[in-house]
Amino acid sequence: MSENTFLAPTMMESLAARGHVVHGFDLNQHQVAFAKNRLKAKGLKAKVWRGRLQDFKVPKGARYDVAHCFVSTFKYIDTEAGAVSSLRRMAAALRPGGLLLLGLHLTDYKNSPPDHERWIGRKPGIRVVSDTWSAPADRKSRTEAMRTRMRITEKGKTRVEETLWDFRTYSPAELKALIAKVPSLRLVACHDFHYDLGSTRRLDLAYSDVLLVMRRA
Ligand SMILES: C[S@@+](CC[C@H](N)C(=O)[O-])C[C@H]1O[C@@H](n2cnc3c(N)ncnc32)[C@H](O)[C@@H]1O
Repeated sequence: MSENTFLAPTMMESLAARGHVVHGFDLNQHQVAFAKNRLKAKGLKAKVWRGRLQDFKVPKGARYDVAHCFVSTFKYIDTEAGAVSSLRRMAAALRPGGLLLLGLHLTDYKNSPPDHERWIGRKPGIRVVSDTWSAPADRKSRTEAMRTRMRITEKGKTRVEETLWDFRTYSPAELKALIAKVPSLRLVACHDFHYDLGSTRRLDLAYSDVLLVMRRA
């Protein structure tokens, strides 16, 4: 039986559809409602609640085989203490031998130009153009300013939604130092965002998007 503790609606859905016990949380009530509705519409069961990575709680007695936190969500935690607390909580929620999967974008402070990423999504009756800009990372404050603008066209009308936030940055050395503060977790493998389990990589700057696999002692 596998369980997961972090919410990614599609991942939760596919794990639940395979018969796993799935739990997840998100800070944002709309994300929680979205995931609940989507699971319900597919007749799938999963526990979803509102929680913060820094101080979340899992249901009493729950012990998980797998916990995951992908697409740089971990970088929303804005302090080192919060990041340590989050890793400790995830480790404590795993059974011995359980795996923590953490996916995030690494920072090269020597080469961190402003960046822009665009995706376009379409469904019948709706089109979304999403632009995300990141400012150069600031080594001293360990932050990179982010801005996302979504241009949403629905029923012939377009509206724009914009979000501004700061991500906490991680060089490979900063990430290694963080993991070292949680001795119950051991880094066992790294992959890139192609999620090819046959292809591992080192925790360095050769590839900036990294998926860490950590095992609970
Ligand atoms: C990149 S989205 C991922 C959404 C969804 N989990 C998924 O995988 O499709 C990042 C999510 O992190 C949530 N978030 C931001 N800060 C958080 C925190 N401190 N604790 C928990 N969730 C947080 C946001 O509400 C947002 O839904």
